[in-house]
Amino acid sequence: MKKLIGIVGTNSDKSTNRMLLQFIQKHFADKANIELCEIKDLPPFNKPENRVAPAEVQQLSDKIVEADGVIISTPEYNHSVPAALKSTLEWFSYTTQPLIDKPVMITGASYGRLGSSRAQTHLRQMLDVPELKARIMPGSEFLLGFSLQAFDESGNLTNKEKVAELEGIFNEFLRFVEITNQLVNNNPQHTNRSKFSWEEN
Ligand SMILES: Cc1cc2nc3c(=O)[nH]c(=O)nc-3n(C[C@H](O)[C@H](O)[C@H](O)COP(=O)(O)O)c2cc1C
Repeated sequence: MKKLIGIVGTNSDKSTNRMLLQFIQKHFADKANIELCEIKDLPPFNKPENRVAPAEVQQLSDKIVEADGVIISTPEYNHSVPAALKSTLEWFSYTTQPLIDKPVMITGASYGRLGSSRAQTHLRQMLDVPELKARIMPGSEFLLGFSLQAFDESGNLTNKEKVAELEGIFNEFLRFVEITNQLVNNNPQHTNRSKFSWEEN
């Protein structure tokens, strides 16, 4: 069974994105082993001169490296991702680089109609920088709008069409993980670290 990491893209104690990942974890328990990870205890990125990650960042990075794939669920703040998620990506790009060649699926939930679509676009763009170089599943997005009303008391998504949409995307992601990891493992160019192009003369 595939081993996946679900990253809750916020440091809020109460989060519908966390609820969405908890639902995904439960709903697809027979298809994948999904461990949910928090970013709320990571320190804000501070560009350390020695480029050594704090222990909490290293721990999360190690889990990502060991996993077959990653799901990131992002809220939308000011048409972008929350600062805590951006800070996490800054740690990753500058220190441990665990997302290089890692299959990633993006989901998101927001209180409004658009379901975090603008934040997801930014997230996709950031994950594609050479220093992060995630393998983001193309041509798919799962947007959960009006997320405060989307779950019942047991944490299940109430809209059956939305559940069916999620099932389709998740099944596609499992295939994407399989194919991407095959390609990556057979790629002689596969590297675990990427230089910062903007630091070269
Ligand atoms: C500072 C701030 C900015 C926000 N900006 C947006 C926004 O640009 N677009 C939007 O749809 N929702 C916005 N919201 C509401 C979010 O939809 C909502 O807080 C969040 O995405 C829900 O995710 P969560 O339940 O995981 O915290 C904003 C909320 C905060 C606190």
